[in-house]
Amino acid sequence: MFTPSSKKVMLSALVACFAIQSGLVYSDDVDIELSADAVEGRKLYHDGACQVCHQLWGQGGFLGPDLTNASSRVDETRLASLLTVGSGQMPAFGYDDEQIRYMSAFLTEIDRPDIGRGQLRLGDPGMSVTPQGAFDAVVLETATGGVRDGFETFASGVCSACHFPFQTSVVGAPDLSTAVERLDEAALHDVLTRGRPERGMPPPAPALSSAERDRLIEYFGWLNANRAELVSDWDSRQADRRVDWSRLDWWEFR
Ligand code: HEC
Ligand code: HEC
Repeated sequence: MFTPSSKKVMLSALVACFAIQSGLVYSDDVDIELSADAVEGRKLYHDGACQVCHQLWGQGGFLGPDLTNASSRVDETRLASLLTVGSGQMPAFGYDDEQIRYMSAFLTEIDRPDIGRGQLRLGDPGMSVTPQGAFDAVVLETATGGVRDGFETFASGVCSACHFPFQTSVVGAPDLSTAVERLDEAALHDVLTRGRPERGMPPPAPALSSAERDRLIEYFGWLNANRAELVSDWDSRQADRRVDWSRLDWWEFR
């Protein structure tokens, strides 16, 4: 029904459409030009696997905040402190001044509200739906005395960057609520002093005093003795605040 010449016309029209479409897709005029310093910062961003915990334009991990517009929120002093000693679940990277400058350049240059805002909005941001947030809330509600001190020592270090509540984490850090079933007190003191660097557990820094180690062990024992109740409380808290993924707009950045 088509003559050879009408086939040719149709084929050329399709090829032309393809070329125009590709042109439109790839001639993206909002490409962000990065300075040499910012390019170094981007390399550090990849080397440090920041995207495991952070998002840029909504893409990445969810343990830490979206960093697309972080430079508008985070001043130089706080950025320097985050990138050297870390904060909460943000591990210490021990950056030197030059590395801090590179990362700062990267975060500043990608922060372009005219191009996009990267904040993912999942319900009420004041409510913690993360497993870690739910766990902290459960413990803070029930733990007292030495147990609470132990929890606070745990929470003030970088421990929870690797040890997750009631499960072995992606980096192989075990569930500490069952540690007392595996290790006796002497072995626990030993891990809490020297770590197990050859197996991915760094020695705690700053070093823990023997009283702090005692409190931590008391806390691990308490987690173990109350494990069933704690797990169910922790589960129900997350169920109450479950995120409705169908409401999530993946194209938040405008
Ligand atoms: C293990 C997870 C993890 C990794 C890896 C990580 N961070 Fe973080 N980061 C966090 C968490 C959690 C916070 C929130 C800490 C707080 O507020 O105390 C945070 C906070 C920040 C903030 C402050 C954001 C704000 O809006 O207050 C910046 C900036 C930041 N991180 C940069 C980085 C960079 C750059 C890297 C890679 C070199 C990195 N992070 C790697 C977990 C992580
Ligand atoms: C960088 C990741 C990382 C950090 C940070 C970390 N750990 Fe660990 N931890 C591990 C890994 C991995 C193991 C398992 C080592 C092995 O298989 O022998 C472990 C093992 C342990 C054990 C032994 C548990 C068992 O049942 O064998 C204890 C106790 C422990 N960590 C406590 C802590 C405390 C307290 C902190 C904070 C001061 C901490 N860890 C920080 C990764 C980490």
